[in-house]
This record gives sequence, structure tokens and C-alpha cells, in this order.
Amino acid sequence: MTTPDPYTTHETLPDTLPDDPMPTLAAWIDEAVAKKVQPNPTAMTVATVDPDGRPSARVVLCRAVVQDPGILRFYTNKLSRKGQALKAHPYASLVFHWDAMDRQIRVEGPVTDATDEESDAYFNGRHPLSRAGAWASQQSQPIASRDDLLAQVMQTVGELGLNFDQLQDGGEAVIPRPPHWGGYRVWAQRVELWAGSPVRIHDRALWTRDLEPDGEDGFRASPWISTRLQP
Ligand SMILES: Cc1cc2nc3c(=O)[nH]c(=O)nc-3n(C[C@H](O)[C@H](O)[C@H](O)COP(=O)(O)O)c2cc1C
Repeated sequence: MTTPDPYTTHETLPDTLPDDPMPTLAAWIDEAVAKKVQPNPTAMTVATVDPDGRPSARVVLCRAVVQDPGILRFYTNKLSRKGQALKAHPYASLVFHWDAMDRQIRVEGPVTDATDEESDAYFNGRHPLSRAGAWASQQSQPIASRDDLLAQVMQTVGELGLNFDQLQDGGEAVIPRPPHWGGYRVWAQRVELWAGSPVRIHDRALWTRDLEPDGEDGFRASPWISTRLQP
């Protein structure tokens, strides 16, 4: 008995690879969102290196792709485990996977903080209780029980002078962004696009470029170099 072939998509990458992978990367994410291929189509695994040199990975939502200069942004608590990892080793490896589209994207590169304006803009667009939650949860720290966590959220809501029920019913509130909460920019230095193909003769292409530090929080990029890879 042969193993069934789950790869039904016949859409391969173009024979002549584009000079820049970012437009295709953005188009694949947009397509996953438009087709609602899964509940969180912008979910990506973020792998980092812990201060002790060991890898750790978790899923976050990609909240922005900036094609030029080639940045992906996500938001989190910077005191979390991933925040500690990025402080020690400011590099990340990202993986998107859309099973329903037979597609995977891998991105690797250095990480810098998002600007305060980017973090404020995203934070202020969140539900007020999510904004309060950013104050309430010491992400990645232990807590004795779920009840204790909920009590901590209620206490924080009270300390911020807010009414939980009103906020749950759609009430608005001004809640400042906690200083430890914000965005990270992952600068794409290595991008791989993977298209699943019948009988596992998958299509893979890799783009790499140099990133020279430029100023305090940026990089100057060399042109991309593309290579097709064996599956
Ligand atoms: C679909 C999905 C989306 C998530 N999005 C985020 C996110 O955008 N930011 C975040 O901090 N955690 C997000 N999480 C939770 C993380 O996976 C993780 O539990 C949390 O960030 C703590 O990770 P750490 O202890 O490695 O820092 C998400 C989890 C799932 C399953």
C-alpha cells in the first residue's frame, strides 16, 4: 500500500525567480487571509535563542509586513521568555505554514524594537480588556491558579480605574501602553518560499542578502540573491 499524496497544489514558483521575495511573501500572507484558510492565517512560529544558547519557539501573530526594507512585525510582552531571548540574542527564525495552500515561508534575520509610534498604534487598536490584560499578565511567569490569574486581571482593571463589565459590554477607555509591551521588527535576511507539489517533488527557493548595521536600530541591505533548492 502506498502512502496517500496530500499535496494537491500544482502551483510552483516561477522558473525565473523574482529579484525580491518580499512581494511574493506578502501576497501569500494576503491570500491566506483573503481565503480564510485557517482561523489565524497570520500565525507564525517564532524561534529564538534563550540566554543559555538553547532554542525556544512559540506562535505569535504577524501584524505587519513592510516590503521595503523587508521587515515583519509582531507584538508581545518584552519581559517574556521570548523577550529575554531576544535581549540576549537579537535574531529570530519565523515559519508560516498554510496546510490548505501547501505553502510554507521561512524568514530569518536580526531583530530590533518597533518604534514607539508603531507599538502605540497597534496597542491602541486592541480591545480595552486586551490592553488592560497587557498590564495584568506577567507573561511567561508562573501563577498558582487560573483563579489567581483572573483575580490579578480584576485587580489591575480596578487599579487602572476601569469597570470590567462596562468594557466587556463595548465601553471604551484610555489605557496607556505598558513600557514593557511593544513590537519587534524582524529584518528579513534569509527568506525561503516552499510550495508543496504532487509526489513530494516540492518547489523551494531561497533568497539571501547582507544587512549592514546602519544607525542605532536599522540596517542597510544589499540586493537579494536567489537560489532554487532541492526539496
Ligand atoms: C494563534 C496564536 C497566536 C498568538 N499570538 C501571540 C502574539 O501575537 N503575541 C504574544 O505575545 N503571544 C501570542 N501567542 C501566545 C504565544 O504563543 C506564547 O504562549 C506567549 O507569547 C509566551 O511565549 P514565551 O513564554 O516564549 O515568551 C499566540 C498563541 C497562539 C496559539
